[in-house]
Amino acid sequence: MTELHRFDDTYGHTPVQKAFGQGDVYGIAYDAERAARQPIKLGMIGAGGVAQSKYFPAVARLRMIWEPIEITAFVEPRVDVADKVRTIYGGQHYTDVGGMLRDQALDGVLVLSPDALHAEHTLTCLDAGLPVLVEKPIARSLSDAARMCSASDTHDLPLMCVANKRYSPPYQRARKLIDDGKLGSLALFSGKFNLGYDYVDLLEAGTIHLFDLALYLMGAATRVSASGTQRHGHNTTGYPVDNVAMTLEFASGAVGSVISSASALSLKPWERVEVYGNHVWLSVEDQHTLIVYDGETEGAQSWTPIVPNTLFFDEEFGGYMGILENFAQVIRGVEAPRVTGWDGYRAYELLTAAQLSLARRTPVALPLEDADAADAEARVWLGRS
Ligand SMILES: NC(=O)c1ccc[n+]([C@@H]2O[C@H](COP(=O)([O-])OP(=O)(O)OC[C@H]3O[C@@H](n4cnc5c(N)ncnc54)[C@H](O)[C@@H]3O)[C@@H](O)[C@H]2O)c1
Repeated sequence: MTELHRFDDTYGHTPVQKAFGQGDVYGIAYDAERAARQPIKLGMIGAGGVAQSKYFPAVARLRMIWEPIEITAFVEPRVDVADKVRTIYGGQHYTDVGGMLRDQALDGVLVLSPDALHAEHTLTCLDAGLPVLVEKPIARSLSDAARMCSASDTHDLPLMCVANKRYSPPYQRARKLIDDGKLGSLALFSGKFNLGYDYVDLLEAGTIHLFDLALYLMGAATRVSASGTQRHGHNTTGYPVDNVAMTLEFASGAVGSVISSASALSLKPWERVEVYGNHVWLSVEDQHTLIVYDGETEGAQSWTPIVPNTLFFDEEFGGYMGILENFAQVIRGVEAPRVTGWDGYRAYELLTAAQLSLARRTPVALPLEDADAADAEARVWLGRS
């Protein structure tokens, strides 16, 4: 059996040293390293669902463990939403981005507005000299995504695109096992995603997480072939397909498959990822449990969190605490971004290639050479040209 390394945490919750060494099971005791960090003031653009359910709770939990970050101001056009956010979480409210950037001395901005506004908001912040963490998908066109990444390069300012699952403890650990060579050379990726609710776009809203995970765990993709069906009409957004099956080829020579269903049930369960090496394979079950199978006759090894609920308690397992702390450390100049704007570009490029494959009914090679032409063809397929 492969000797798997031990970890010094309790799998995403209180560090072992705090819980047992310091009798601090909540992990609230003084943390000299974090407490000494430069305080970071963040602005937020868009204070809707993801802001309230993920970012404010993740920031609160980071502050609990001594990470000195705060959301000092937010932009939100809806007065009812803004009133709630100001009452519950505090912060100065603005109705326009320009006002917030003029008034506030910010260290960075979280762009959590609707997808179609990501490019405008990100470019405005980068032009104002501020690092940006933008939600996924990075944009709603490859050409916008390229402009955002180029602006970050030109200004030499960090642009991170949310790929929160990369920061989720089981996926991080899976990546570490792969990097440490525990699986040998990789041969196969398998991913499934059950969207299960019908008011968002199937590939852009959910499946893009799996595209990013495929790239994160397997490396660059060179080809995608997708088939789709509109079987149950589970799309209030009028998306052309409600179930998709895709095969992928990677530059390493590995292959993979991704399936995604909008007529599934979201909570039973949500997602599953498997990676196969040489007589060793691992699976991440619903973003909480990691299982490594490394012998035909021995038992499997697994890590399971104490509170295994990915949808409702996922400041940590959803990866939001991890990505926010990394963003703060990037702003301070003491860590490299573990996900960049260009990573967001490549995930969206893979998504666009899948759309082109669905439109053409043929495999599509990556990288896509002409972003404008790809965007135009994808828009026709979406019926949104
Ligand atoms: N990482 C994930 O798993 C995940 C999950 C959910 C949403 N998201 C992404 O987060 C983003 C926001 O999604 P959501 O579910 O919170 O949507 P939402 O509609 O609940 O929130 C968006 C908010 O932006 C506000 N807004 C609209 N126009 C604005 C403007 N010009 N300036 C500032 N704010 C404006 C809206 O009033 C709304 O409150 C989307 O890009 C979405 O894809 C990511």
